[in-house]
Amino acid sequence: MKPNNSTPPPEDPVRHHVYDGIQEYDKRLPNWWLLTFYGAIVFSIIYWLVTQHFPSSTDESRLHAEMAAIETAKLASSSATLDDATLWKMSRNPAFVDAGKITYNATCASCHNAALTGGIGPNLLDEVWIHGGRPTEVLATVTDGVLVKGMPGWGPVLGSQKVSEVVAFIMSRHDAPGGAK
Ligand code: HEC
Repeated sequence: MKPNNSTPPPEDPVRHHVYDGIQEYDKRLPNWWLLTFYGAIVFSIIYWLVTQHFPSSTDESRLHAEMAAIETAKLASSSATLDDATLWKMSRNPAFVDAGKITYNATCASCHNAALTGGIGPNLLDEVWIHGGRPTEVLATVTDGVLVKGMPGWGPVLGSQKVSEVVAFIMSRHDAPGGAK
C-alpha cells in the first residue's frame, strides 16, 4: 500500500482546535521525556529530604565545632597568662578536661583516688582546701607541691601545659563562679 502522508496514523488523533489554520496531532509524550520529568520530581523530593530533614552535619553544628576549636586554640595560647577566668574556661572545655583526666589517672589518682575523693592526699572534690581553691591557687599547689606534706611538685615533671590541663580537670568537678559554662 502506498504511504499517505496527509492522513495521520489512527493512534494519533487530531486535536479539535485550529490556530491560523494549523492543526495538532494529540501525540503521546515520548517515554524518555516522561522518565526525565518524573525522575526530576522524585530526585527533588529525595534531595529535599536529605538536605533539609536528615542532614549529616548542619551549618549550625559545623559552626559550633569551629567556634570550639577557635576557643580551644585561644585558651591554649594564653597559657602564659593563666588567670582564674582562663582556667575556669579551660575547665568547661572538653579538650583540656579530657587531656587532664588522662594525666590525673596516670599521675595523681594513686594518692588522691581516681574519683578525686582522697587517700594519701586530700579530697579534691569538696570545698575544703588547705592551700586555696581558686584555680590559680590549685595551679600553684600542683606546680610547686607541698613537699613537707608529701605532695610532689609537678611543674618540672609534667610541664606547664599538662599541669594546666589537670587543674582544668579538677576544676571541671567544681562549680564555676557565676555558673560559667
Ligand atoms: C605521693 C602522693 C601524691 C601524689 C602522686 C599527688 N598528690 Fe596531691 N597531695 C598529696 C598530699 C599528701 C597533699 C596534702 C598536702 C598538704 O597537706 O598540705 C596533696 C595536696 C594536693 C592539693 C591541695 C589540696 C588542698 O586542699 O589545697 C592539690 C590541688 C593536689 N594535691 C593535686 C594533685 C595533682 C593534680 C596531682 C597529680 C599531678 C597530685 N596532687 C599528685 C599527695 C599527692
